[in-house]
Amino acid sequence: MCGIVGYIGTQQAAPLLLEGLTRLEHRGYDSAGVAVLGGSGLKVAKRAGRVRDLADGLPKRFGGKIGIGHTRWATHGPANDVNAHPHTDELSRVAVVHNGIIDNAAALRAELADDGLVLTSDTDTEVLAHLVARSSAKTLEQRIAEALGRVEGTYGIAVAHADFPDRLVVARNGSPLIIGVGDHEMHVASDLAALVRYTTTVAHLDDGEMATITAAGFSTYRIEATGLAATDRRAKEVDIDPEAYDAGEHDSFMHKELLEQPARAEAVLRGRLDERFGTGHLGGLNLDARELRAFRRVKVLGCGSAYYVGQMGASLLEELARIPADAEAASEFRYRNPIVEPDTLYVAVSQSGETIDTLLAVQEVQRKGGRVIGLVNVVGSAIARQVDGGIYLHSGPEVAVASTKALTNMFLAFGMLAVQLGRVRDLSIADGKRLITGLTRIPEQIDQVLATEADLALVAKRLAEAESLFFVGRVRGFPVAREGAQKFKEITYRHAEAYQTSELKHGPLALISPEVPTVAIVPDDELVERNVAALHEIAARGGPLVVVTHDSVDLGDLESLVVGRIDVPRNERELDPILLTIPLQVLAYHAALELGHDIDKPRNLAKSVTVE
Ligand code: AGP
Repeated sequence: MCGIVGYIGTQQAAPLLLEGLTRLEHRGYDSAGVAVLGGSGLKVAKRAGRVRDLADGLPKRFGGKIGIGHTRWATHGPANDVNAHPHTDELSRVAVVHNGIIDNAAALRAELADDGLVLTSDTDTEVLAHLVARSSAKTLEQRIAEALGRVEGTYGIAVAHADFPDRLVVARNGSPLIIGVGDHEMHVASDLAALVRYTTTVAHLDDGEMATITAAGFSTYRIEATGLAATDRRAKEVDIDPEAYDAGEHDSFMHKELLEQPARAEAVLRGRLDERFGTGHLGGLNLDARELRAFRRVKVLGCGSAYYVGQMGASLLEELARIPADAEAASEFRYRNPIVEPDTLYVAVSQSGETIDTLLAVQEVQRKGGRVIGLVNVVGSAIARQVDGGIYLHSGPEVAVASTKALTNMFLAFGMLAVQLGRVRDLSIADGKRLITGLTRIPEQIDQVLATEADLALVAKRLAEAESLFFVGRVRGFPVAREGAQKFKEITYRHAEAYQTSELKHGPLALISPEVPTVAIVPDDELVERNVAALHEIAARGGPLVVVTHDSVDLGDLESLVVGRIDVPRNERELDPILLTIPLQVLAYHAALELGHDIDKPRNLAKSVTVE
């Protein structure tokens, strides 16, 4: 989704801004722009398309040591040159880049138009540039605070002003902003990915905070009704390897991240399993055994893949801790005025920690007195800071839009949580130990699945030919099918629909034909016979079958009809879903590769979805 960069220092800003924007490309965008402040005032260049198009078309004389840049993911108005950021006032003295959505933009635009102003773009952001320009307050900070006081909605903004050529001002409300401290220079970005090449000393702004940034440092304030109150925000060192933002020898970040899974899976488990007592050791939950035991229900909230893995997690919790648990799309949750009960444990799941739907769902629960823990990858992100406790996923930065390694670690975090919750309830020590042994085997077993990549690529080639596919599974296998279909449609743009295998005969069987393959999840569990019977119904109608299963499963006569059989290593039944998911990630990746798509930047999608 939209990305912000900014620079102030001793070097020419434009090349650094363009480099920063390139590092934000994975977030998803449709246009890009930069503004620099130099001796001859403010200069702006922006256009629809890629950052490289912007760079190619940049005027030769585009000098200035202060600047801001943006990648836009269209919300108000189409993706074109005019709607791209930065936006300026009539005299081009103020330039603004903005992430988020101004909810009352229509009213503010009408007010400005009534005042005789001709707005040039369709965007909500443009009003901010005009409001700042029209303010007669003394300082730039006060002018921006005054403008923001008129605005309802979410924002992360960076502002450059020709009358204040020694500074950039940034502010945050619901959309991340990070300040990076360099040597006689300062950087700004909405994502660490744009900063780590220059500095790992950073300060995250809080919602409601503003910062003045000069080449020598920064100062922060809280925006209050009565004015600006200084805050004491300090920059800290973040433990991030800049190489994590480099795809290295891989053709895409997705491929790199797929292969990183065994190592990242070990990282999330490290130090969190108590083998002696067969339990988890999750200190960050901020819940003691008595509090954990008092919960009567668990509700998992997440979006997209985080929701699907939430369904896998809810079923783990129900099976192991024998506590009623379900998952719900966070994007829907708060709109149905949910009943929040004090004895329900809420679990928010998010890789980025910035997904606005999930953040708002967390706030809704907390507003009603509920307790929320987070399963979050990005340290210090909005959701991580909002929740009452949680488990960091230790996946390392995930750059590809299609989530792989973070999703795997979400499952493992659920596994540990289920064992720990189970052990304060009715899970026996023997079962606790059985599951802990199972969890520790998973990294090696993921490695075994990944070692079959070449075979999976052949199956993927066949699936890539189909315009439409089904992914089916039952009970534990159904969220696996949902996640498999999600990954496939995200990066191949094929229609991939997930169904419960048992539901096929109640409608979708009508669509089965030789042109519509089905990827069936058939673990060797208590449902295997029923699953295999349903596959016969598909085969009888000429539907090509790819079966993701265990080598112990006998497919009988079907064996000669399946176009692909993928055997994954067996673990404990409850933990099998993640091992069944890994080949589906690889299938989606190779099908997208076969189709020649830009795997890390799927059309219309963004890495972190920071608008509702
Ligand atoms: C996953 O492949 C998707 N890109 C998407 O569904 C994602 O999982 C969802 O937007 C939630 O993101 P989050 O984990 O950062 O909250």
